[in-house]
Amino acid sequence: MARKYAADPIDDLAGYEHTLAQVGVRLRHHQSVLEIGCGTGTTALRLARSVRSYMACDISPEMITIAKEKLAREPVESLHFVVADAQMPPPSWDTGLNAVQRFDVALAFNVLHLVPSLNATLQAIRRLLPAGAVFMSKTACIREMNPLVPWVALPVMRAIGKAPDVLVFDALELQNALERNGFRVEVVQRHGTQGKDIRVFMVARAVD
Ligand SMILES: C[S@@+](CC[C@H](N)C(=O)[O-])C[C@H]1O[C@@H](n2cnc3c(N)ncnc32)[C@H](O)[C@@H]1O
Repeated sequence: MARKYAADPIDDLAGYEHTLAQVGVRLRHHQSVLEIGCGTGTTALRLARSVRSYMACDISPEMITIAKEKLAREPVESLHFVVADAQMPPPSWDTGLNAVQRFDVALAFNVLHLVPSLNATLQAIRRLLPAGAVFMSKTACIREMNPLVPWVALPVMRAIGKAPDVLVFDALELQNALERNGFRVEVVQRHGTQGKDIRVFMVARAVD
């Protein structure tokens, strides 16, 4: 599905641009950034020039292949795409809490509802960040949809291979999960411009 995903237009362009602007104002030139679940790299290609280094990972080799093709057409020296599972990052990334850490900023757009375990993923991200680092995410809160979607439509679509497994939580549950796993949530926003927006943008700080 990666080629189809890459060809699909962004469904709420104004909302997407608003999110990029909110992320952009919080990035600094000296920073190293990790993006998890980067897909075909559209956002990474937009943001990477603003920072010193930008590593974008995705669990799907096909997504990363397309991202690398785009990068070859539009080279950005600071940007690297790698295949990696956000929930189980390569040991070489994980320097452990209190050690010299690798990233100043972590980003996750439209992916936290797709991982097998939210807690395990947040813990993995937290281990890669020093205290004070920033984690910015935008996440579909499926519990905020009509209940027929998570409990009827999605299971049916999953059964016929048309939808992935999803985690069902609302914005408060996501915020609580972040706070249980070493983050303090500082900003909660919605950027959608097309009616009710279930995708919540959060800025969280890594805390001891
Ligand atoms: C809905 S797409 C979002 C892509 C991109 N972040 C965006 O906003 O357009 C979700 C992406 O997360 C990736 N993904 C799902 N589970 C993942 C995991 N455990 N680790 C890393 N990437 C994952 C998928 O392969 C897919 O590319």
